[in-house]
Amino acid sequence: MHLTVFLILLAGFIILWGVGVEPRWYRLRRIKIRLSTGLSTPVTILQLSDMHFPFFVRSVEKFFKKLIPLNPDFVFITGDLIETDEGIEPCVRLLSGIQARLGMFAVFGNHDYYHYDLWEAIVFNFDRTKYPRKQNNYGLLKKSLAAAGCRVLDNENTTVPNGRDLFRIIGVQDLVTSRADIPKAFRGVGADGVKILLTHSIDAVAEIGESPVDLALAGHTHGGQICLPLIGMPPVGTHCKLGRKYAAGLARFRKIITYTTHGIGVGRILFFRLFCRPEAVLIELH
Ligand SMILES: [Fe+2]
Repeated sequence: MHLTVFLILLAGFIILWGVGVEPRWYRLRRIKIRLSTGLSTPVTILQLSDMHFPFFVRSVEKFFKKLIPLNPDFVFITGDLIETDEGIEPCVRLLSGIQARLGMFAVFGNHDYYHYDLWEAIVFNFDRTKYPRKQNNYGLLKKSLAAAGCRVLDNENTTVPNGRDLFRIIGVQDLVTSRADIPKAFRGVGADGVKILLTHSIDAVAEIGESPVDLALAGHTHGGQICLPLIGMPPVGTHCKLGRKYAAGLARFRKIITYTTHGIGVGRILFFRLFCRPEAVLIELH
């Protein structure tokens, strides 16, 4: 009897925590990455991902206020900025408050393109080949972001000089919804400079062949979203074909350093996080 009461109380606590506390318990994760190519001047990168606006706008707004004083050199956004078209306005408004000396660049994720209703969101977790019927207005999102100083790299790359260093920022569009065009994204990218790949799904690194990349940044997995103490991310449902090793945090794929972030938000199917706090990432690149 006592055990039953304890288990009911424990389950109630976990549900309250996972729904009411942890999805808003944001953290700024700081990491240092040393590239073998060598940089004459270190730079800072703020990586944001999976905001899924318009969910939790007020909480994210408070968190973003803490990010503004960081004054990063770059801001990179790795997809799922919005969940529905109602997310476009708060997304653009909040991002326009963050300044980056060398620029803000983004790629889109599956949720930027599609509006998943509840049933489609459930089905997506079992069969990723199914596409929702309704699309989001991603054209408007892209245009509004451009007006706010954020360039969406739509299977394209750009070069950003910084003193003696040269950055090649390559944006591969969403692999999950078959929008990635890797040859197009890498067109003109040579061996020189620091090559940074932005992708929603880290699985893109297995698709790029010999294309040169030093650092790949991704989101999509939400770090597992529901993890277990000591074990971390469960071995199933990682949303990452490359496997658990690449589904959260730092890893290395051949010569590429990869970082997959927990992201900031949650999707419409599961407003729940456990042992997997939402995060923004400040990378010091040396
Ligand atoms: Fe997401």
